[in-house]
Amino acid sequence: MIRLTRNVSHELKTPMGALGLLAETLQFEKDEAVAQRLAERIHTEAFRVNRIIEDLLDLSRLESEGSPVREPVPVGLFVAEAIERIRTAAEQRDIKISFEEPSVALRVTGDRRQLVSAVHALLENAASYSPEGSTIEVEVERVTTPPDELEFTDGPVVRISVRDHGIGIPAKDLERIFERFYRVDPGRARQTGGTGLGLSIVRHVAQNHGGNVSVSSREGEGSTFLLDLPLSST
Ligand SMILES: Nc1ncnc2c1ncn2[C@@H]1O[C@H](COP(=O)(O)OP(=O)(O)OP(=O)(O)O)[C@@H](O)[C@H]1O
Ligand SMILES: [Mg+2]
Repeated sequence: MIRLTRNVSHELKTPMGALGLLAETLQFEKDEAVAQRLAERIHTEAFRVNRIIEDLLDLSRLESEGSPVREPVPVGLFVAEAIERIRTAAEQRDIKISFEEPSVALRVTGDRRQLVSAVHALLENAASYSPEGSTIEVEVERVTTPPDELEFTDGPVVRISVRDHGIGIPAKDLERIFERFYRVDPGRARQTGGTGLGLSIVRHVAQNHGGNVSVSSREGEGSTFLLDLPLSST
């Protein structure tokens, strides 16, 4: 369960403090153009608070419930659904997403909503931390020898990879990016609206499904995230 740690309250306090100040300023603002801009800022900050709360609720649900729904979910289906969800945002930045549906039917057992959220969080990052006009490559493949990290299975695994050609992640941060609220560049993240919860959601979903998430990255060249999940035997 998520407790109201110092981190959580700090992340909420910042935009809440900003909201208070902005509203106070707006109250006494006579200039209509300035008032308009203040109102826009209030809207942005309120949106941000809302996002943090929603992400925290998601994470708390993931942590406490495990994977309550256990049904066979076709991999091509939840990956395609996650891509659909990110498409508009990606198009706005002229980012293309390449994806070839797997030719054979691969399925994992679990919670479709959680699986969509996880892939979506990876795509959201790939799109946010890449330049306009770049491409994101999504691949789905069956891996016969499971990676060592997967303790719970010695059966076949499906590997979902999300590769971008963006800013990349410094080697010293690679270990930490899956931590809650961890951001490589908090200043920049504040502008892009990131709260540092996306990858902790991915990690939880992977765990709930007996899987694993890993990353390789080069600064200035791009990143590849691998989500490995045990294949359903049914
Ligand atoms: N594909 C990527 N390319 C470059 N940096 C990345 C990528 N994915 C994650 N990161 C780095 O890891 C940090 C943590 O990612 P995470 O998704 O957990 O949080 P966020 O994107 O900052 O916020 P949120 O996902 O909650 O909106 C990011 O702030 C960013 O610095
Ligand atoms: Mg993110």
